[in-house]
This record gives sequence, structure tokens and C-alpha cells, in this order.
Amino acid sequence: MRCPDRRLAAAWLLALAAPFASAADPEAVRSELLARERERHPAASPQDLAAGSAAFDPARAEEASRNRPAPGAADAVEAGKRLWTRKFANGRSLAGCFPNGGRGIAAAYPQYDPRVKRLVSLETAINQCLKTHGQPLMEADDPGTMGAVLAYVRSLAEGRKVAVRATTAAARDRFEEGRRLYFTRMGQRNLACATCHVNHSGRIYGDAAIPSPIGAAVQWPHFRDGRPASLQVRIRECLGRMGAAPFPAGSDEITHLEFFLAYLSNGLAVRANAWRPPP
Ligand code: HEC
Repeated sequence: MRCPDRRLAAAWLLALAAPFASAADPEAVRSELLARERERHPAASPQDLAAGSAAFDPARAEEASRNRPAPGAADAVEAGKRLWTRKFANGRSLAGCFPNGGRGIAAAYPQYDPRVKRLVSLETAINQCLKTHGQPLMEADDPGTMGAVLAYVRSLAEGRKVAVRATTAAARDRFEEGRRLYFTRMGQRNLACATCHVNHSGRIYGDAAIPSPIGAAVQWPHFRDGRPASLQVRIRECLGRMGAAPFPAGSDEITHLEFFLAYLSNGLAVRANAWRPPP
């Protein structure tokens, strides 16, 4: 099981993590979850937790280390670099839309943009640049275009600390929206993301250990069967398997969830393009 894709049998899934006080301060939420995870997994550092299931499963960890670098990653990074530096008809390029040609930027997405009053994911920022220069947009879940570009741009942030900001009231509201979604039961199985990832991180569900919420935004895109998949793609797959109609790709809901998870990864080093087993 990669995400909940079978009927629930386990009674332990029925209890939901005690929710936080409403509209909690993002830093307080992060500290509380860190403390909870430290208590549950005293031997694992937050950076270790970013390995997903492998943080709790020695066989998976060994498979991950055999697949480092992940098969397919080098080719995708090359293809992404070509797309990133390709000159549009007007002589501009994706690289030209971002500071320093995009070096390090991935560590700071999603980010709140006060001009459009919305959270902007890295995918949205890339498409905004294409739109500005009259180029066709990339599908958020297309591994050959957006996936390759993400693989390259996130490789330019390798080792940088995730630094997602929620310092304004508007950004804190978006964080709160992501937190609320994460803790809300949804879909036919009446589960919340937090039911598994907060209450039961490390526990085996199906054939995989449930990853921690800490570090969940660090290793993207993941390479599965040699192809990149973004955090947004994964969130949508999980929702589908929970029996909840997935929010559309690029929707505010998905970006709020991504923002919440990225905030919880603050301070951890980006490790892009990590291997994961096939979905
Ligand atoms: C029934 C338990 C369950 C629920 C509910 C659930 N997940 Fe998961 N999730 C898992 C398991 C188990 C995996 C690991 C699958 C694997 O790697 O084989 C996983 C994987 C993930 C990953 C990838 C982590 C990594 O680094 O590999 C993310 C991100 C994630 N889930 C987010 C979510 C979000 C967001 C929700 C709610 C919309 C959610 N999950 C709901 C069990 C669950």
C-alpha cells in the first residue's frame, strides 16, 4: 500500500489526533508536531524522518540506498535544465524569470503572494512565467515537462534549508487552512491525513510504514519507476485512495496542504529527486 488503498480493518485508524487549538500559530504547531515525533521516534532526527517510510523500515532504507541516485533522475534533471534555459521567441527564458537563474528558490515555495492574494506553488510560479512570455503552460502532473523542470530546479536547491514563510496574517491564514484540511476527516473512509501521519507515523499500514509529517516536503520530486512525481501529485493520489474526490491539480486546497507540509519541513535540508517504490 502506498497510501490508503484498501478497506480499513484497523481499529487504531478510527481515532484522530487531538486537534490543536484552533487557528494556532504556525511555529507553535510545528514545535508541537516536532515534539510529538521526537517522543514517538527518539532515535530519528527530523532530517532522518524526511526519508518517508524508509525512516522506519530497514529493508526500505536499504533499497533506497541502493537506488541513490534514483534511476531516471539524472536524465530528468538534464531534460529539466534544457527546458529551464531554452530561449523563448522573445529571447527570455524560465531561468530569467527567477532570481539567480532559480538557484535555491525551491526551498522557499509555496509562498504567499500579496499581489494576487494567494499562495503560489513552484509549479504556479513556473506557469506564470510561461504565461507572461506567451508560452504554452505545463500540466502540473506531466512528468516529461513540469516533472523534469521541478527535478532540475529543486536540484538547484540541494542542501538548502527549507524556508517557507508564514509571517503575515494572510500567510498564517493559508497555513491554518492547510492544517485544518490535514486534520479534517474526508472521503468514504472518513479519515484525515493526520489520522495516519500524526497518530500513527512509523506504524505499518498495508505493506508500508506510515511516513512522518515532519520532513514530508524535503525529497521531492520523488522518482518512482524512473519518473518524477511532485508532492502535489502525491497529495492528490492520497486523497483519491482515501475515497475523497481529489481537489484539482493546482487548486488552492492542494497548495494549502503543500504549504502546511512545507512549513513543517522548515530548517531541514532539501534532498531532491529521491527514490520511492512504484505507486
Ligand atoms: C490510512 C493512512 C493514510 C492516510 C489517511 C493518508 N496517508 Fe499519506 N501515506 C500513508 C502511507 C502508508 C504512505 C507511505 C507509502 C509508501 O511510501 O509506500 C503515505 C505517503 C504519503 C506521502 C509521501 C511521504 C514520503 O516522503 O514518501 C505524503 C506526502 C503523504 N502520504 C501525504 C498525505 C496527505 C496530505 C494525506 C491527506 C490528504 C494523507 N497522506 C493521507 C498513509 C496514509
